[in-house]
Amino acid sequence: MPTAPLPQFPAGFRWGVSTSAYQIEGAVGADGRGPSIWDTFAHSPGRIADGSSGDVACEHYHRHREDVALLAGLGVTAYRFSVAWPRIQPGGTGPAHPRGLDFYDRLVDELLAHDIDPVATLYHWDLPQPLEDAGGWLARDTAARFAGYADLVAARLGDRVKLWITLNEPFVQMSLGYGTGEHAPGRTLLFDAFPVAHHQLLGHGLAVAALRARSGSPVAIANNYSPVRARGGTDADRSAAAAYEALHNRLFTDPLLGRGYPEGTIGDPSVVRDEDLAVIAAPIDVLGVNYYNPTGVRAPQEGSPLPFELAPLDGYPRTAFDWPVAPDGLHELLGWLHRTYGDALPPVEITESGCAYHDVPDADGRVHDPERVAYLDGHLRAVRAALDDGVDVRGYFVWSLLDNWEWAEGFTKRFGLVHVDYATQARTPKSSYAWLRDAIAAARRKPAR
Ligand code: FCB
Repeated sequence: MPTAPLPQFPAGFRWGVSTSAYQIEGAVGADGRGPSIWDTFAHSPGRIADGSSGDVACEHYHRHREDVALLAGLGVTAYRFSVAWPRIQPGGTGPAHPRGLDFYDRLVDELLAHDIDPVATLYHWDLPQPLEDAGGWLARDTAARFAGYADLVAARLGDRVKLWITLNEPFVQMSLGYGTGEHAPGRTLLFDAFPVAHHQLLGHGLAVAALRARSGSPVAIANNYSPVRARGGTDADRSAAAAYEALHNRLFTDPLLGRGYPEGTIGDPSVVRDEDLAVIAAPIDVLGVNYYNPTGVRAPQEGSPLPFELAPLDGYPRTAFDWPVAPDGLHELLGWLHRTYGDALPPVEITESGCAYHDVPDADGRVHDPERVAYLDGHLRAVRAALDDGVDVRGYFVWSLLDNWEWAEGFTKRFGLVHVDYATQARTPKSSYAWLRDAIAAARRKPAR
């Protein structure tokens, strides 16, 4: 358990936690919500490790006051949640469903009453099923639909949300959702999934304009990044690493920051119209960075459909997801963003960072998670090291407040600072919650620098 106090962070540094709608809300039939691709996927046999779905999840929809009290107890200055598109437009188009908006209205007001900045993500993977039936993110029209939805949410919440995030991890939506099929909607198009990248980015750009028309608050996107390490010293290993880096780290960042698509990533060029790149490169105020781990890459076996092969990275402790715990990777990544994009890089906020462990209550009902404390301590020190190098990092959001429904892993992976007993919905703050509460309090007490 780390005992040394954390170093200082700049005054106004944002301390937050993140969640997403389908992973915590439950209440999938409440107040007119329509089905999303995740409802369909989770209810298809064999898709989810434990056969579960997000039908009930953490019942946050009905317990949001209790959950905001947990946020207040933690002392965070911001809370990142996502708005469920199928609650706002159950059919994916048309006017807003008022009762869907009412829920987020109540949540936002509850947060503000506790001095917590509402940070709203508009899309955390829960596409309304009717839009998937019309082609999903393979269809260009979905980009315009997304901007229409952004407009509806901003019209209601634009005066109170403090930071907008358009999309969460469009790389994962493309690669796991449409490339390999491990996530909803379960398509297996491999590199033919490229239009999903372009249409999400176009939707992002159109949504930036819609948000700016309704709200004076800053706008961001949350991309996930992974520093890429070549395993093996051959030229083929190095080009495999470069190919993976283009796909994972640059495909969704180069065009945003005005550089167009990295060479070799576009696939069918007719998907990209001349005017699209300017829309995509609309200035953003913050780049959201989700970081979990670095990736080892080597040259593919002969006959592989991919230009790379993922390879394990040795020498790190591992989480219950078998992900390496590598705070040095976060430091490396922030340096890479800073060097690669220079002045084009907006201020950065770490919009997700966290770890899964097999957290079980002890005989007294307490949940000790020293590994998570060590994880957070290490990653916060990595952020501090990046600040020292001159990277403008403005905030850090832990994934996640609560144990929750972890997509294809169902309830088998616990990422929360707060343990959830899914049978009773009892919330029990883990020891990492107490540690983070004390760390935030100490950081906020310190003089500005
Ligand atoms: C990220 C997702 C988030 C959660 C964490 C563990 O990729 O954005 O919803 O699943 O991973």
